[in-house]
Amino acid sequence: MTGIICGTGSYAPSYVMDNNEIATMVETSDEWIRERTGVVTRHIIKDETTVSMACEAATRALADGDVDARELDLIIVSTISSNIILPCTACEVQKELDAEHATCFDMSAACSGFVLAYNTALAYLSGGIYKTALIIGSESLSNLTNWKDRGTCILFGDGAGAAVMRAGEGKTYFPVTCSDGMKGNALTCQSRHTLADTRHMADPEYSIQMDGQAVFKFAVKKVPEAIDETLKKNGVKKEEITWYILHQANSRIVEAVAKRLGEPLEKFPMNLQEYGNTSSASIAILLDEMKRDGRLSGGQKVVIAGFGAGLTWGASIIEWR
Ligand code: COA
Repeated sequence: MTGIICGTGSYAPSYVMDNNEIATMVETSDEWIRERTGVVTRHIIKDETTVSMACEAATRALADGDVDARELDLIIVSTISSNIILPCTACEVQKELDAEHATCFDMSAACSGFVLAYNTALAYLSGGIYKTALIIGSESLSNLTNWKDRGTCILFGDGAGAAVMRAGEGKTYFPVTCSDGMKGNALTCQSRHTLADTRHMADPEYSIQMDGQAVFKFAVKKVPEAIDETLKKNGVKKEEITWYILHQANSRIVEAVAKRLGEPLEKFPMNLQEYGNTSSASIAILLDEMKRDGRLSGGQKVVIAGFGAGLTWGASIIEWR
C-alpha cells in the first residue's frame, strides 16, 4: 500500500508585483534581481489570506482528482504565515469544504513544509490508517517581509498549492529528511504575538531576517546530498528520474544543485520567475502547473526536494500515476 497523488490545484493572488515596483521601495534594479535570483515578478495578496488561498487551491485539487470532500480522512496545511492561529488553517479548510470526516492539523517547517506534509500523508496512507488525504502549502510571506530590506524583500511571494492523495497499491519510496536547529540563525522571524500591542508591526525585528550567503551555501550542499541519498536508499538511478522539482527559492540554487548532481538543467523545471519564493507553496504550485500543461504523465518518477529555515531539508520520490 502507498499514497498516490490523484489531483492538484493552486491559487496565486491576482496582484502581480514586478521588480521595477520593488525598485521604487528599495535601492535595487530589475537587472540585479534577475541576475542574482531569477525572480521577475511575484504575486502579492490584496484581499486574499492564507486561509482563502488554501481553500481555493484545495477546491481546485479536489475537482482535478474528482474527489468528494466528504471522502477526506486527513487535511494537512503547511504554513508559516497564516492570518489565524486558532483554529488552525486546516480546520478552516475543512469548514469551507465541508470535509466533515477529516482530521486536520497545520505543519510549520517553512520551505521544507510541502515535502514534509507529503511524507506525513504518505505514512498515514501507506500504513493503512487513512484512505484519502489533502495536503496544502499556503503562504502570505508578504506579511512577514521587511519591505525596506533589499536583501530579502526581492525574494518572496504569496500563493497556495494543494494535492489530493489516495491510498492504493504500489511501492512506497522512503524519503530522506534532515534538520539542523543549531544553524537556525541563518533564517529567522520572531513571532508578532509575543508583544501586547501593535507597535511592532513596522519593526524589522518581526520580519524575516536572513544571512543570504549562509542559506545559499547550505542549500547547494545539502539538497544534492539528500537527493543522492534518497535515490540510493530506494535503489533508483538518476536516469530513471524525469523531473527534479526543487523548492523555488533562487534559479542559481537550482542550477548549482543540477550541476552537483551531474544532471541536465532541463530536468529541473522552474516557475520562480513568476512567483518568487512562496515557501511551502512553491513545490505544490509547480506540480499543479506541470500536471495541467502535460509535463507530468503516468509512469514518470519525480523527485521533490525542499530546504529552508530550521534549517530543514529533504527529498522524496513520487511515482506519478
Ligand atoms: N539590489 C542591489 N544590491 C543588493 C541587493 C539588491 N536587492 N541585495 C544586496 N545587494 C548588495 C549588497 O549590499 C552587497 O553590496 P556590497 O558588496 O557593496 O556590500 C552586494 O549586493 C552583494 O551582496 P550579497 O549578499 O553578497 O549578494 P548575494 O550574491 O549573496 O545575493 C541573495 C544575495 C539574497 C540574492 C543570495 O544570497 C541568495 O539568494 N541567498 C539564498 C537566499 C534564499 O534563497 N533564501 C530562502 C531559502 S528557503
